[in-house]
Amino acid sequence: MDAPLQYAKDHADRFVEELKAWLRIPSISTDPTYATQTRSAAEWLADNLRDAGMGDVEVMETDGHPVVYAEHHVSDDAPTVLVYGHYDVQPPDPLELWDNDPFEPVEKDGDLVARGSADDKGQAFMHVKAAESWLATDQPPVNLKFVIEGEEENGSVHLPGFLEEHKDKLAADVCLVSDTALFAPGVPSIAYGLRGLAYVEVTLTGPKKDLHSGVYGGGVENPINALAAMIAALHDDDHRVTVEGFYDDVVALSDDEREAYRDLPFDEAAWKDEAGVSETKTEAGYSVLEGTTGRPTLDCNGIWGGYTGEGAKTVLPSKASAKISCRLVPNQTPGDITEKLRTHFEAHVPDTMSLTFRDLHGGHGVLVDREAPAMQAASEALEAVFGQTPYFTREGGSIPVVADFKRILGLDTVLMGFGLDSDSIHSPNERFGLDRFHQGIEASVRFMDAYARQKEAA
Ligand code: BES
Ligand code: ZN
Repeated sequence: MDAPLQYAKDHADRFVEELKAWLRIPSISTDPTYATQTRSAAEWLADNLRDAGMGDVEVMETDGHPVVYAEHHVSDDAPTVLVYGHYDVQPPDPLELWDNDPFEPVEKDGDLVARGSADDKGQAFMHVKAAESWLATDQPPVNLKFVIEGEEENGSVHLPGFLEEHKDKLAADVCLVSDTALFAPGVPSIAYGLRGLAYVEVTLTGPKKDLHSGVYGGGVENPINALAAMIAALHDDDHRVTVEGFYDDVVALSDDEREAYRDLPFDEAAWKDEAGVSETKTEAGYSVLEGTTGRPTLDCNGIWGGYTGEGAKTVLPSKASAKISCRLVPNQTPGDITEKLRTHFEAHVPDTMSLTFRDLHGGHGVLVDREAPAMQAASEALEAVFGQTPYFTREGGSIPVVADFKRILGLDTVLMGFGLDSDSIHSPNERFGLDRFHQGIEASVRFMDAYARQKEAA
């Protein structure tokens, strides 16, 4: 393994320059006006994978943005690692809060600041460069497949169909993903859990048009007042969700897990500082870490209606709307929770209002077996890089396709992420530490070696 590790060191600066070039392409998947650029980012990556020495590289069509696929076959006896990542990024706005152009990467305090630097181009690219480091120096110890998609930030809507359609082509032994975070700076971790998501939009309509609040106020019910009351009633005093049956299928945290949570070197003061809050607020009986990663939640993500412009306008609005999403844990399902939300809203809508309810998207949460050989290989790789045994953690974010890898391809996923909560993903000034970029390349090189040895021993 010395040769690929040395190669990665010798070419570290070029790897960063290449990543910068990729980050300059604004692949904003949720905005149709960026469709051309999103495709260019896919093609840029395909070219880079070809230059890295990957054999079969294709930009494969879906009904949405394309998937970049690459393969390198070593031997029928070697295990196959399927690397998943995404080349699409979140919209950069609000632009005025960035210190630099989000698509003109800048190095600052050891970080690369740009949209997509941490989520997920920088992290996906670590594996491309790890593959290159093997291919340029030695035969990789595993067969490699890459699936880098362009719609993760849009709910990966076309990916399950893609996996079904190309089941045989994508056959592998394990899936490797870097799209999560380290537990803390310099503290390695492997995620064995992710939360799912159920996302809906509700609108209450009262009067048939906006009314003068002096003429009609006091005589009709206001949809914003009514919606606000409904939203306020979605939690009880213990900060538990009041939707009937919401917790029915929740897999409880085991005693082992709760003990492991307590052993984590969690710095609550720093966490509060990063979030900018003076107090935390959790479901009664659970810690912040448990609440943010191992328990389900309901949050209102946006609310609008009436007049929100400059100055005062005495309007009694016709409509009020809100976007509401739930983070789910195994074994809650997005379909079931969405129906429970629908039933709840229908049951509580005032007689004076009508309700429209839209299901936006969802995804399943996952738990991965911590004892799986690939998890042990990742642990060995991270220990070699960081000089300390990684923690197994659960994460609060969602990568819906991880459940699909299990359901459709039968694959467990190793979540070996190098982000930090302070990377500001989805926010202005997103950043990725260049030290972590290089550590990630080294960990990926080492993972391939450790996994091949594990499988051989098994
Ligand atoms: N990389 C994140 C997911 C993530 C963030 C996992 C932090 C663990 C910790 C991913 O790109 C993402 O943002 N996913 C969305 C999924 C949604 C659009 C279906 C999310 O979690 O909101
Ligand atoms: Zn994201």
